[in-house]
Order: sequence, then C-alpha cells, then structure tokens
Amino acid sequence: MDKIYLIMPERIGQINPDVYGVFSEHIGGVIYDGIWVGEDSEVENVHGFRKFIIDKLREAEVPLIRWPGGNFAETYDWRDGIGDRSKRPTRINWWNYCDGSYEPNIVGTDEFLDFCALCGAKPYLAANLTSTTPLDIRDWIDYVNSPEGTTTMAKLRAENGHPAPYNVRLWGVGNENWVAGGNMTPQFYTNEYRRYATVMENSSKGLELIACGANVDDYNWTKGLCEGIYEHGAPMHGMAVHYYCGSAGDTIGFSTDEWNQLIKQALRMQELIDRHWSVVKAYGMESKAKLCIDEWGCWHQDKSGLATKDHLFEQQSTIRDAVVSALTLNIFNNNCEKIRLASVAQLVNNLHTLFLSLGKDCITTPTYHVFNMFKSHMAGEAFRVIGPDDISASASVKDGEVTLTIANLSPERDYELELDPVGFKVGRNAKISLLGDGDIHAHNTFANPDNVVVKNNNCENFDRTISLIHGGIAAVKFSVN
Ligand code: AHR
Repeated sequence: MDKIYLIMPERIGQINPDVYGVFSEHIGGVIYDGIWVGEDSEVENVHGFRKFIIDKLREAEVPLIRWPGGNFAETYDWRDGIGDRSKRPTRINWWNYCDGSYEPNIVGTDEFLDFCALCGAKPYLAANLTSTTPLDIRDWIDYVNSPEGTTTMAKLRAENGHPAPYNVRLWGVGNENWVAGGNMTPQFYTNEYRRYATVMENSSKGLELIACGANVDDYNWTKGLCEGIYEHGAPMHGMAVHYYCGSAGDTIGFSTDEWNQLIKQALRMQELIDRHWSVVKAYGMESKAKLCIDEWGCWHQDKSGLATKDHLFEQQSTIRDAVVSALTLNIFNNNCEKIRLASVAQLVNNLHTLFLSLGKDCITTPTYHVFNMFKSHMAGEAFRVIGPDDISASASVKDGEVTLTIANLSPERDYELELDPVGFKVGRNAKISLLGDGDIHAHNTFANPDNVVVKNNNCENFDRTISLIHGGIAAVKFSVN
C-alpha cells in the first residue's frame, strides 16, 4: 500500500476561490449556441441564457467568469454591445479569418453581467489595449461602475435597464499582447499598460488591474514587465500567464504513450509557476504581480466536438482531460500563495470545455465534474501533501473539515492509498467522491450524457484507505479530530 502524507502543520496559504474560474470568449460556439440561446428559444433559458449551464455553474459554485476574450477582446468595442439589441451592429469577429463568423453583439456588457449574476459568479472583464484608447476603457468602467444617477454613462446604463452599478472590480489590461494583442515587445506593452492602468485606476475605486503576462515560458516578457513597473511604477494587482497543453494524439482514441505525454505537459505548470514567480520575487513584486493563469487547458488539434456545424476549436473532453484538470487544480492549490486567480479555457463548446451543447442538448464533460468535486477547496487553507509518483494530490482545511483531492496520473496502474496524517487525527466519517472507471477514453455524449459521472459514497467507518483506479480522480472530505 502506498502512502499519502497529510502534513497539516505545513500551511501553504489560503486558496483564493477565484482560482476556480472559467473563461467565456466570443469564439466558435461558446456564447452563441453555448450560453446564449435567446429569450424566445425552445431551450429552457433564463433571460436568454441556457438554464442547464446556469444551474450547473451554481452547483459547482464557479466563482468567476472571464469575458469577452481572449483575442476577441483586442478588437472589441464595448459600445457595440449595449442598448436595443435590434439596432446593434454586426462586426467582424477577431476569429472571422478562421471560421468566417461575424459578431452580432447580442450578448454585450449588460447581458454578460446578468449572466454572471444568474450564475452567482463575479465578472472579470478584459479591456482592449490594442485598438481602443484609455478613454474608451474609462467610459466602459464608468458605464458599469458609476453610482446611479451620477454620470452620463450611469444614466445610459439606467436607460438600458440597469440603474444600479455592477461594481466590476477585476479588469484585464490587454490580452496576449505579445502576439494577437498588437505584437508588442514587453517594453512597448509595459509603456502602454502604464498609460491604460493609470487612467483605469482613477475611473473607479478599488479596481484590480491584471497586466498581460507571458506566454508559457517567456520569462523575458515577465522580466520586461516587472522591470518596467518596478522602475516607473503603475497600479498593478496581478499578471496573467497563459499555458495550453499541446496535442498528444487523437483527442478520444489516444494511446497510453500519448496519455503520458499529455500528463507530462500538464505537469509543467509547476515549473512555469516556479520560474515566473522567481522573476516576480527578484523585483520584490509579489503583491503586484500575483499570477493569474487566465487561460489554461488542453488544446487538441482534431475536431472532436459534438456540434454538427463548425464551432471553432470545439473538442471532446475525456477522462484524460479531467485528469489534466485535477492535476492542474492541485498544482494551483499547492501554490496558492502565488496565485490570485485562474480561468480554464473555455466554458462550453470549445477547448478544455466544461459543457457541450447543441440546440436542446447540453451535457457536462468529465472536466465539469472535477470542478464540482474540488469546490470545497475554495477559501480553504492549503497544506503540504506528499504522495507517490503518478499521484497528484492537494489538501486544504476549512471549518474543521479537510478536503483532499487526488488524481491517478497513470493510464495503467491502480493504487491502494493509505492516508497518513501528520499533526492531526482523521475523523471516522468521510465523504468519498470518485470519477473514472478504468476506461481511459471515457467521455460523455448527447446519447450517453452520464457515461462519466461522479460516484459518491458516505463512509461511516473510514479506515483512511482509498482505492484509486488508473486514470481515476477522488475527492475525500473528512473532519479533523
Ligand atoms: O482560448 C482561445 C485563444 O487562445 C484566446 O482567444 C487567446 O487568448 C489564446 O491564444
């Protein structure tokens, strides 16, 4: 039997709930066909948004939704998406060159912020730094945040049906400005960032401004950004980093070697966090440049989604993607003192998706279940866990209850695990949730939506052992004695 040591006295920090966020971009089928079906749709909806997704996001207590991009954000004019929907302009979507799609602007600021309220999630808006001006973004902040009846923008918001301010606090300042967001050098971006951030900060109290950080392992970008802010100053409260795992075989029919390749890529998240954080620390910028991993997940290359029409980047999600989700969230928990927030890319009908939908059909993917299984980590105090190779784990304690999440990274080997607590005793009652049955290609479809579902077991005489099948994921909750 292999052991997992739970070293409670070695505290890491508090897990910010916002680490369990999701990303919803105007791309492919994420917004239209995904979350938005329209008020007159036959699909059950609330204010035009798919009720199934709202209910499931509430159940998983997803705390944060990033919008409107992604690359889409860098040519988005927020003014296109307010007021009478029938009069809104149709524009070229940033992704038009990939899929020929146009943006009808049916879902704009008021709709998206309504969706967040329906889901009980906080919004994280991405401001366009490439093709608008700081004044345009000031006006956007004014529109969403100024107190009722004060500014012209606040009055416009009231005319559009929302007199009360939305109080959006989290703002990204640009997206991937090293490529699609203007092809900038870190020095050029940092100069632009300072201009925008200074104007944005003075537009509303208490904003958290997240600078565009690096792609994967571009430590030169992190250095350039930190240097520019360190030397010249500017309000900054976080630094975004993007990391996607690349292709490793067929999305569904991969081999065990390809399983292992993908897991190895996903585990690289730890190295990226360590190295970017070393640069941040070198400039003493730990409080300004906490990591915001606001795009992460698997980016498979083949078209494996369920849509009959072309939803750009839509891919299936198997138990392998769920294991990537679990190990990534475990890494975030185990590094919680460095991480302000994260958002998985993306919410529905796209990369590393939590849902797949088409017309009346909508299903959860194995990745959704991982978010639901891990939710009790949110706001918990993470502590150190040591387990065998091939086992990813993290643990946190909150209100006298421990949440331990484990993923078996092996596609072949089953584990019998014994929990060995250090500095506390494990209570006799435990709730054990398990995902995965040994089929490493398992996934859900419209015809078989519950092929991969969580199995819950309330154990009244917990003997501190857990059997975890290859490719399986467990969440265990028990009280501290
Ligand atoms: O998530 C899809 C795209 O990936 C985003 O628009 C962009 O930020 C990233 O390159």
